[in-house]
Amino acid sequence: MKILVKAFASALLLTAVNHSAVAVEKEVKFNKEIKPILKRSCYMCHNSRKKKAAANLRLDNVKSIEEAGFVVAGDSAGSSLYDRITRAEDQKGVMPPTGKRPALSTDEKELIKKWINEGAKF
Ligand code: HEC
Repeated sequence: MKILVKAFASALLLTAVNHSAVAVEKEVKFNKEIKPILKRSCYMCHNSRKKKAAANLRLDNVKSIEEAGFVVAGDSAGSSLYDRITRAEDQKGVMPPTGKRPALSTDEKELIKKWINEGAKF
């Protein structure tokens, strides 16, 4: 009986360990998780259809995001894109500008932070 209980306990423990390992390893996927956020809250101004995208920054195209330099792979704190989306609603330069597009939720900001810190892979 004792052995059975032990086996059961270690099986439980193993399951728990496996689960946390999966959660840590799961990388943020740009196309699936980040792009829809940019599409909803940023494309309107930072796109290609406008003759001149706001701040000359296009967020609707991976190459442009990479070249613009507002995302520093591995360093969310040094990424001005992350700085802009985490500014207070009443602070100058907050993105998206207050009232223009749905602001990002805390979860969405965390997701972008994680994506940048994981290397901003596309
Ligand atoms: C309503 C239009 C509008 C929307 C929506 C918008 N932006 Fe902007 N964005 C601007 C304008 C205009 C500027 C230039 C003025 C400034 O720097 O604040 C700018 C500037 C920026 C800059 C700084 C560029 C620089 O030269 O330093 C970044 C980064 C940025 N936006 C990211 C975003 C992100 C990310 C989103 C979506 C979460 C977004 N923007 C949504 C209009 C917009």
